[in-house]
Amino acid sequence: MTKLRVALLYGGRSVEHEVSISSATSIFRALDPSRYDVSLIGVDHDGRWRLAPAGRPPAAKIEGPEVSVPVTPGVRSLVDGAGNVAVAELDVLFPIIHGRGGEDGMLQGLLDLAEIPYVGSGVLGSALQMDKEVSKRVLEQAGLPQLPHLCVKRSELARDADACLRRIRDTLGFPIFVKPANGGSSVGIHRVATDASLLPALRDALRYDVKLVVEQGIAARDVEVALLGNDPIEASIAGEIRTKHDFYDYEAKYVDEATELLVPAPVSDATAEQLRDLAIRSFAALEGRGLGRVDFLVDRSDESVWVNEVNSLPGFTDVSMYPRLWEATGLPYPALLDRLIELALEDHRERAKLETQFKTS
Ligand SMILES: Nc1ncnc2c1ncn2[C@@H]1O[C@H](COP(=O)(O)OP(=O)(O)O)[C@@H](O)[C@H]1O
Ligand SMILES: [Mg+2]
Repeated sequence: MTKLRVALLYGGRSVEHEVSISSATSIFRALDPSRYDVSLIGVDHDGRWRLAPAGRPPAAKIEGPEVSVPVTPGVRSLVDGAGNVAVAELDVLFPIIHGRGGEDGMLQGLLDLAEIPYVGSGVLGSALQMDKEVSKRVLEQAGLPQLPHLCVKRSELARDADACLRRIRDTLGFPIFVKPANGGSSVGIHRVATDASLLPALRDALRYDVKLVVEQGIAARDVEVALLGNDPIEASIAGEIRTKHDFYDYEAKYVDEATELLVPAPVSDATAEQLRDLAIRSFAALEGRGLGRVDFLVDRSDESVWVNEVNSLPGFTDVSMYPRLWEATGLPYPALLDRLIELALEDHRERAKLETQFKTS
């Protein structure tokens, strides 16, 4: 049997660089060597793609000769720094880069131009899911439950800060969550409990994006559902994150060892069913493909459910929520990887059938 040539692309220019290397390491270890020939491509902090030595897990520091993918449809090779010698061939690429340049559609556009099959959502799905503010508009239109929120732009605050603060106070009550529209890992997110801290929170969040989501805060539990599939989409059972922090902030995500994942989430059967249904509908509304994770806020008092966000590239280390949820739903990590690769190839085959020219009879 000829082996499938899989390229793992990891690292990247974001605060999630190290998490991405951990995810790639877990994936590398779980990919069956009798089925796959794996190339490792690390993206360093300067955004350069580097070919790592074959046959061993990714190193903590990204080094190696520079490579790139030519955007010539169908060539499907990696070329050296000078751009003329093919150094590896590939059948499918598994991008595992979080945040800007990795899961926001830019990389997906490059891969589409090169006609390289890849795991996960395409350009539109990635871009939609990355932008919390546009996501909210689309989810709202699809009738999916959203907490009350506003969009605040840097230009609005610069023009008339008092009017902007008034607009927020007139619509929402404290606590208020302030979030950069494009972000992740809770970077730049503030839970604002008092009027006096609202303006500083807006100013700080605007360091990370020119557009913010300002949202009603509630006392909530973080509950997540994993999605898998192109069409139909399947939902895993739900899992809950318990932290000792005020909310699931950067420290709770990456530093605090006391953060716990509860699988399955301790919610009523009716809520569990509702979460899975809403997860599938949210993922579909945001053009999700392959894999994704829908994060909910579940009200601590009455278990009412709000869609918080959809992530096109959830954390993928072997202890991350996404693979843990599939494991608990009956799909072990290596089988999950096989399925994701199949889905990437399947989607690519379907799209390759589309006409690219219009022939009149
Ligand atoms: N409206 C809200 N009410 C209560 N908690 C919230 C609200 N919005 C966000 N949070 C908390 O903040 C965390 C991070 O917010 P989120 O929108 O998921 O940003 P990120 O994309 O950085 O993960 C959530 O996991 C949740 O714990
Ligand atoms: Mg989140």
